Amino acid sequence: MISGPPAAGKGTQCERIVEKFGLIHISAGDLLRAEVEAGTAAGKLAAEYMNKGQLVPNKVVVDMVKHRLAQPDVQDQGWLLDGYPRSADQAAAILEEGIHPDVFFLIQVPDEDLIERVVGRRMDPETGQIYHLTFKPPPKDTLKRLIQRSDDTEEKAKARLEVHAGNVASVLDYYQDVLVEIDGSQDIGAVGSAIEDVLDTFQESSSLDEFQRQAEASSA
Ligand code: AP5
Repeated sequence: MISGPPAAGKGTQCERIVEKFGLIHISAGDLLRAEVEAGTAAGKLAAEYMNKGQLVPNKVVVDMVKHRLAQPDVQDQGWLLDGYPRSADQAAAILEEGIHPDVFFLIQVPDEDLIERVVGRRMDPETGQIYHLTFKPPPKDTLKRLIQRSDDTEEKAKARLEVHAGNVASVLDYYQDVLVEIDGSQDIGAVGSAIEDVLDTFQESSSLDEFQRQAEASSA
């Protein structure tokens, strides 16, 4: 799981993690934006909350995420859940299904950096690539088609920050055993290396555990 305030760099780091570890990226925000785009009833309701920077009601979000987690590609390749859970109720809803992460990353970034990241973010609708006008400049030939998210204004970002600050402690209560805090104020590459180091160590230790389990089973 990967968590953090708005524009902390969750989506940016998920791209890197997916490339290296082959997990399926499930972003609650992307799932919601797809519903909004499709004009479904869930999407219409979600848009009212997203436009104000508030959390979308659980009756929309929880089943949507549970449904995605149950799909075969996710079951086969493993999941990387981004932006969910954002409240104690959401954490409880997946714990009931026995869903607990191996690692929970919390990316920490000072508020003033976050506002700068929000207002400078642009997305390429053709490739889905996320850029920043200063920190990750887009290629010149894509500039005309880039879009800005409707909730990426300073005012809405402040509302999203407040929502995050009000909920994060209750979510962390569920994940203290696997919590890893990452200094997200570093550049994109340095944040990525810090995350990859943790995941490499986790992979090595789980392969070692598996090796020991197999050795014990064959000697029994
Ligand atoms: P969501 O889409 O999840 O938005 P968010 O949490 O506010 O996070 P962002 O997508 O804004 O940022 P990010 O951390 O992915 O940063 P990024 O990598 O793009 O949710 C949107 C809305 O949907 C919510 O407000 C809510 O209404 C609803 N919602 C979502 N989940 C929900 C849930 N579980 N329950 C209820 N409602 C829910 O990076 C940002 C920018 O910074 C980019 O331009 C990037 O290039 C740049 N950047 C990244 N890393 C760095 C770095 N290290 N240094 C400099 N620049 C950087």
